[in-house]
Amino acid sequence: MAGSLREPKADSASPPVPTVAVTGGTGFIGRVLIRRLLQERRGVRALVRPASLASRFEAPGLSWIQGDMSCTDSLRRLVEGASAVIHCAGSVRGAGEADFFPANVSGVEKIVKAAGESPECSRFLLVSSLAARSPELSDYASSKRRGEEVLRSAARELDWTILRPPAVYGPGDREMLPLLQWIRRGLVFVPGGGDARFSLIFVEDLAEAVLSWLMSGAGGGCCFEVHDGKTGGYSWEEVRKIAGDLFQRPIHRMDIPRGVLETAAHVNAAAARVIGYRPMLTPGKVRELCHADWVCDNANFSSATRWSPRFGLREGLLRTLG
Ligand SMILES: NC(=O)c1ccc[n+]([C@@H]2O[C@H](COP(=O)([O-])OP(=O)(O)OC[C@H]3O[C@@H](n4cnc5c(N)ncnc54)[C@H](OP(=O)(O)O)[C@@H]3O)[C@@H](O)[C@H]2O)c1
Repeated sequence: MAGSLREPKADSASPPVPTVAVTGGTGFIGRVLIRRLLQERRGVRALVRPASLASRFEAPGLSWIQGDMSCTDSLRRLVEGASAVIHCAGSVRGAGEADFFPANVSGVEKIVKAAGESPECSRFLLVSSLAARSPELSDYASSKRRGEEVLRSAARELDWTILRPPAVYGPGDREMLPLLQWIRRGLVFVPGGGDARFSLIFVEDLAEAVLSWLMSGAGGGCCFEVHDGKTGGYSWEEVRKIAGDLFQRPIHRMDIPRGVLETAAHVNAAAARVIGYRPMLTPGKVRELCHADWVCDNANFSSATRWSPRFGLREGLLRTLG
């Protein structure tokens, strides 16, 4: 398949809905987001990298544009005629800036420019990360913060919004699934063995949050945090109790000393450089995992959009692990 695939067919019985341009639609979050937009009968035009054509899915109202975040021409075609852009693509694993910055920083610059040049496009949502709050921790975190800064300075005529989710989980997630599966088997691994607190969000609630942003017209140069409604976040002890109650079995806590994680991360990063893959566990990721405070606050986003989350950790685990 080259170029774009089928545009959505207008339903003669209902007024045409403006198309939304989406990046990251072959990924964990973007896939759920696109399905939710389509359920609301939104036309969706999504970006797919040539190497990921097999990950794309077909649905009425959905069309794909081939290209990546470095390809200005593809980004122009992606946003052309769209009323809003939801930029969800991002590089989430890697050994250094070179793995994160092209997608998470230069990519933002390019798509903001394309959106700004498209007369129909007035709104832009950047799916950033709570990690952007602490850019000193890792190359991933600093790339997400730099991406936000690029948006703030380049958006000009666009009505832009930044959304900072905490850790996102749900069916289809590759990163957190092994940890959740271990919890069901009765072991909760605690990175660094500390008493961190963290917010979480179930992927369907995040998709609903993005839809609320789209429908409400909220934003206007704001940066919002979103979580699953657990004020003050979770401790590992609370996770252990919730899972124990859900799976009706004892869940044991296993502390992984920070030194062990750091050693594993250094070995993994070195192997990645030699063999040539993008590692998830790196020294930067260890600093993120051992960070004491990943708690965020829903209040501003909820009052701006009237969104409220539906799935707490118990329900989310049930839906993720079945
Ligand atoms: N998952 C979380 O816990 C979490 C938490 C906070 C924020 N976020 C943010 O949410 C977004 C989506 O994350 P995810 O968990 O869904 O990650 P994911 O499953 O790895 O999906 C990433 C998506 O971005 C695309 N992408 C990556 N680099 C690209 C490039 N250079 N050009 C075009 N597309 C590119 C990927 O395309 P391919 O399929 O071709 O690889 C994929 O569609 C990211 O921006 C991430 O920073 C995630």
